[in-house]
Amino acid sequence: MTSLTGDAPVNGGAESMQRATITGWGLCVPPAVLTNSDLETVMDTSDEWIVSRTGIKERRITHTETSDMAAVAARRAMAAAGLEPEQVDLVLVATCSPDQLIPSTAAYVQAILGLGHAACLDVNAACTGFVYALSVANGMIATGVAKHALVIGAEKLTSLLDINDRSTAVLFGDGAGAVVVEAAQGDDGMLALNLGADGSLADALTVTGFATKELEVLENEYRLTMDGREIFRNAVVQMGDAAARAVADAGLTFDDIDLLIPHQANTRIIDATARRMNLPSEKVFVNIGSYGNTSAASIPIALAEALEAGRIKPHAKIVFVAFGGGLTWGAACMQWGERTTPIENSDADLSPTDQTGLELLARRQRERRLRQGAG
Ligand SMILES: CC(C)(COP(=O)(O)OP(=O)(O)OC[C@H]1O[C@@H](n2cnc3c(N)ncnc32)[C@H](O)[C@@H]1OP(=O)(O)O)[C@@H](O)C(=O)NCCC(=O)NCCS
Repeated sequence: MTSLTGDAPVNGGAESMQRATITGWGLCVPPAVLTNSDLETVMDTSDEWIVSRTGIKERRITHTETSDMAAVAARRAMAAAGLEPEQVDLVLVATCSPDQLIPSTAAYVQAILGLGHAACLDVNAACTGFVYALSVANGMIATGVAKHALVIGAEKLTSLLDINDRSTAVLFGDGAGAVVVEAAQGDDGMLALNLGADGSLADALTVTGFATKELEVLENEYRLTMDGREIFRNAVVQMGDAAARAVADAGLTFDDIDLLIPHQANTRIIDATARRMNLPSEKVFVNIGSYGNTSAASIPIALAEALEAGRIKPHAKIVFVAFGGGLTWGAACMQWGERTTPIENSDADLSPTDQTGLELLARRQRERRLRQGAG
């Protein structure tokens, strides 16, 4: 066990456990951009509809696997934390678009980065995955099971989309973000976590054909389907409630919060959550316009951008909150540490590509047809 120095309640009152914090951060978004105008050329939609209903202007589409983006983001996070590969003893990848079912994407990341025998596992809580994975890392640090965890959110959601379904095809994008989690100093670190789910609404967001469930309609293979209105209704309530519970469990009020970093699914959902928390827009980080919904990757991407933009000051109180398929939700309230700049910068990057967003989208559709035996 590591030494026990923290004294504030974490996760509902575990006194005298080691408090965890974030010491490194990094993002990786693929270079190919797919704009709303691009989508107008391949489906019946419009920039005006997408921007007014969601806030999304463009998204990225990757020429790589999920694990490649995860590894680049992780390398950048490790450099920011000044962490050597042999110090990492836990790799958690939050994803609902893994390279494949077995092995975990975390195992690929471990191999790419040469992380020795660090423990590896994927966490699937859809768009809430990063907050869930953060809570797993927090628990492992708190109990001394792990000392330095890489927590990564990484998604290649464009491979799950059907461009014939305009109600989902315009929403999602690819990318990865990563953080290093380790023991906190003093009063900084994780103050409270709040997680929940409602499995009775599990069918409101599904990807069929990825596992053992028998399929009646083969065309549905690997197709993301969603009841957008049901998700919207629940997201507005549960994001606000989860954030409120985490803030209260941390012994704080909404006035104490310096920055909200919400899952980037829809500006209307973000605005409703901010209203519920009585937070002005300058205390809310929004980058959905550039990346769309990158599911489990959206919060760590936003965190890295918020730090880069100087939006997080030493010892700031911040809240992460997310909602997603499951239906799941989760919030984390933490006090940032002293350091808001990276110890080192990594020049890690994805392999280059000349392919445009539209060319990659066409490739995805060809891959889908091949999987369905029609190609
Ligand atoms: C998906 C979402 C943007 C749809 O917005 P909405 O205001 O609820 O829109 P509706 O579903 O009521 O559809 C309104 C109309 O727009 C149409 N439409 C749907 N997608 C469209 C698109 N991309 N372009 C143009 N029109 C579109 C619909 O067909 C419908 O037309 P109709 O009235 O003629 O039937 C919204 O419900 C949402 O964001 N939900 C949450 C989804 C989410 O975040 N999921 C991830 C979970 S983390």
